[in-house]
Parts: sequence; structure tokens; C-alpha cells
Amino acid sequence: MPESTYHEHFRFLEARERLSFDEIERVACVAASFGVTKLRLTGGEPLLRPQLPELIARLAAIPGIEDVALTTNGVLLERHAAALKQAGLHRITVSLDSLDPAIFARMSGGRAQLTPVLESIASAQALGFAGGVKLNTVVQRGVNDEGVLDLLDYFRNTGVVVRFIEYMDVGNRNGWEREDVVTSRDLLTRIVTRWPLEPLSPHYRGEVAKRYRYRDGAGEIGFISSVSEPFCGDCSRARLSSEGQIYTCLFATKGTDLRRILREEDDAALQKALAQVWRDRTDRYSEERAERRADKARGKIEMHYIGG
Ligand SMILES: C[S@@+](CC[C@H](N)C(=O)[O-])C[C@H]1O[C@@H](n2cnc3c(N)ncnc32)[C@H](O)[C@@H]1O
Repeated sequence: MPESTYHEHFRFLEARERLSFDEIERVACVAASFGVTKLRLTGGEPLLRPQLPELIARLAAIPGIEDVALTTNGVLLERHAAALKQAGLHRITVSLDSLDPAIFARMSGGRAQLTPVLESIASAQALGFAGGVKLNTVVQRGVNDEGVLDLLDYFRNTGVVVRFIEYMDVGNRNGWEREDVVTSRDLLTRIVTRWPLEPLSPHYRGEVAKRYRYRDGAGEIGFISSVSEPFCGDCSRARLSSEGQIYTCLFATKGTDLRRILREEDDAALQKALAQVWRDRTDRYSEERAERRADKARGKIEMHYIGG
């Protein structure tokens, strides 16, 4: 979130403009009635939302919901991890791009410190979340790619699964250029020269990460090749923003307003709207990008608004 826009006087959403826990739960119940089994809380930074464990407990209790996950920058995780686990959170993903304090500081806009994030990862791992603790690492050429092996070395034999996500052109502000992307293939080549790996079979159809294990038994890592091998055809995700817009693609230019329906209509109307959004979806931005047909100028929703 660029400081130039989100300065001291920026008017963030008022509480009444955001969905309440009751409203989020209603959307989740309708989604579960359609067969959704997994929910992920992301952002923005989900740990900034007061009483988050209460929301997690409500979501985890919805019939049909088998998996509630959280993606966080880890800054506030240590103080909340036990309450999140107790509330029924199944798994945690922490975003960590570098173990070099200077690079980490630069990539987090000078606002976060590395040591507390590493401590929070260790405490979350010690709590024993059923679905484990994963790291999301986005590698940008010339920014943090030199530190990839150090990062893996640190987490080998800890049970924490590092997953590399190819750097994407989400939103309009990150100045993305194709040359900045370090592909999974490139990373894999660098990694196997140090630690031989073998592929693991997917847990389920459409699993976004290609998983590998170290031959020496030091654990598992994954690669999400969203730029070099787009998986739009297998994508089954929808994203609900804090103010109730639903999006069917990370690269969407517009969403559908569920907040009005939540506030003015009943669950049958909500069900109808959600079904229609899903039936009508045509997004395949990453494939279009791979085919060099993506419109670079299209006004995409920013990542901090739509989640990762
Ligand atoms: C937008 S963040 C939101 C959740 C939380 N604040 C966090 O930092 O994890 C979700 C995920 O998106 C990833 N991400 C952000 N920008 C990205 C980009 N340009 N390409 C690929 N992944 C990106 C982050 O690394 C993070 O794991």
C-alpha cells in the first residue's frame, strides 16, 4: 500500500462500510451451500481486524467448511497465534520474501522488522496447526533472488513449507515487467544444484502449488507458477473484499456488490446473485498474459484490496 496514497489523512473505510462478521458469515454459509469447503482470510492484513478469532470460530463452525486458512505478513502473528488456533484456524501462511534484514526492510516499506516475523513463524509452528505453517515467497529479479537458498536453508528440517510464487502484475502500481519474474523453472534449477529434489503428486486436482520434497528428507517446498504456467482453467476461487465486492479473478477490473443484497435482501437473493456471478465468470487473465494478449493498461484492482 503506497505511502503516498495511504498517508496519515487518507480516509479508510468506516466500520459500517465494511462487512460485519454476520454479513461475512452469511456469504460463507451461502458459498458452503454451493459446495465451497475452503475459506482463506487475507487482505490487506487480516490480523488488523479486531476480534478476528471470533470470525474464524464462526466460519470454522459452518457445516461443510473443512478448512479455514489465513495469509498474514506475520507482524502481529505472535500475539494472536494461540487465539487463532483455539478459534479453529486450520493453517497459516506467512509472507516472507527475504532473510536479509535490509532487503526485508526495503520490501516491507521500512515498516516491519525481520526478527519478530521469524519468531512468530516459530511460535505458530510450535502450536501445531493441523494444516501446518507455510511461507509465501515472491521472488523479484535483482531484489531478493540472491537470498533464495539462504531462506530455504533456514527452514529446512523445520516442517515449515516454503512456496515460491512467481511475481505477478497484480494491480497497476508495482511497475511489473516480465524481466523481473524469476520463473519456477529457474529457481528449481538453482535449488537442485544444492539439494536434490523429487516431485510429489498433487493433493487434489487444481492444486496451485507444484510440490517437491528434498531427497535428504529435510521437508517439502512448492512453486506457484502463475506467470510461466497459468492455471486459470483450474481456478475455483472467488474473492470477497472487506466492503462486500465479490471478484472471480485476482486480476479483475470490477466486482459485484454483495453488500447491498446482504443489507436489503434475503438469503435466497444472495444465493441467486452468487450463483449468477459464478456462472457468468469468464476471467482468464493469466492465460491472456501468457498469450501476450493481456491489456497492460486495464485498470486492475490492487492486490492489497483483493488479497493474494
Ligand atoms: C497481498 S498479501 C495479503 C495478506 C497479508 N497482508 C500478507 O502480507 O501476507 C497476500 C499474498 O500476496 C503475495 N503477493 C503480493 N504481491 C504479489 C505479486 N506481485 N505477485 C505475486 N504474489 C504477490 C504476498 O507475497 C502474499 O503472500
